[in-house]
Amino acid sequence: MKAAVINQYGDSSQLEVVDIAVPAIKVDEVLVENMATSINPIDYKARQGLLQHMFQWQFPVVLGWDIAGKIIAVGDDVDDFHVGDAVFARPDTDSVGKNGSYAEYTAVKADKLARKPDNVSFEAAAAVPLAGLTALQMLRQLQVTAGQKVLIQAGAGGVGIYAIQLAKKLGAYVATTASLSNHDFVTSLGADRVIDYHQENITEVLSDYDAVFDMVGDIDNGIAILKLGGHFVTISAMLTEAQKQTANKTVETGWLDTNGQDLAILANAIADGTLNIVIDSVYPLTTSGIRSAHERSETHHAHGKIVIQMKKSEKEET
Ligand SMILES: NC(=O)c1ccc[n+]([C@@H]2O[C@H](COP(=O)([O-])OP(=O)(O)OC[C@H]3O[C@@H](n4cnc5c(N)ncnc54)[C@H](OP(=O)(O)O)[C@@H]3O)[C@@H](O)[C@H]2O)c1
Repeated sequence: MKAAVINQYGDSSQLEVVDIAVPAIKVDEVLVENMATSINPIDYKARQGLLQHMFQWQFPVVLGWDIAGKIIAVGDDVDDFHVGDAVFARPDTDSVGKNGSYAEYTAVKADKLARKPDNVSFEAAAAVPLAGLTALQMLRQLQVTAGQKVLIQAGAGGVGIYAIQLAKKLGAYVATTASLSNHDFVTSLGADRVIDYHQENITEVLSDYDAVFDMVGDIDNGIAILKLGGHFVTISAMLTEAQKQTANKTVETGWLDTNGQDLAILANAIADGTLNIVIDSVYPLTTSGIRSAHERSETHHAHGKIVIQMKKSEKEET
């Protein structure tokens, strides 16, 4: 099968599309023929070798953590999904680095899958799992409820677009940070207050917040704007002991727990039109396409999600 691999850690020029073996499935897995995947910042961090303390991968490594496609084989213990089902998922990370999503086929544990909503394309569905699950689970960890004031950093990014919409669904008042050119965009997603982080420090304009969802490493300022009893979660930085021990405030890191039940919650919201998917750009699964997609992600200014298309959706083919 066609897959984009790296043979050593480094810059985007390490990415190359080659032919490798189709992954074998275990009894609790399905084999998905991928129509699309999407890029997350963890992809270029992994490519640079920054995850070597977490994973002992063997080259060539197939990166990528989002899939949308059709099931073409099911393991003997899989009951809930069948050949032909259109699904999406954030698969588990495999221990040797061969089963990423920059490939025509990926083996996925059935408990990580959800059915793709009919009203969105495979390209749009591929833009959801990792970023959408992170947004949903971090708002849950922050215990956001109706009427609370929540700051969501980086509202125009992959996680931010979902976090703003999900926090509004919960009934929260949402502040977010974005460059000026993205203010109308994040307002259209539901943000009540937008701060241009190039011009203003959040501590100058926000106070008494119930929750702060950090994905830019603005830790001390985020903690400072919380009211007593408030919750802070970061997904992009290590906390010092002093930050973790902040008096009368809960200060934590967060990490996505991939699972199909939470993805089904997102699928329902997409199906009923209350969660919109925003695509920054679409690239083909070619050597130049995957390299350009990584370079776009590394600008830190993607507007929504960057998608890699393996095959065109049927709708586009007809
Ligand atoms: N721990 C986990 O489980 C987990 C899961 C998902 C993501 N993450 C991490 O979370 C971070 C965000 O992920 P993502 O997918 O949302 O990234 P992304 O799509 O690359 O984010 C791009 C956005 O970041 C905004 N931005 C850049 N610098 C900013 C700053 N200083 N203040 C406010 N906004 C800023 C940009 O907004 P403008 O263009 O408007 O400036 C752009 O829209 C990454 O570090 C990622 O690795 C962690």
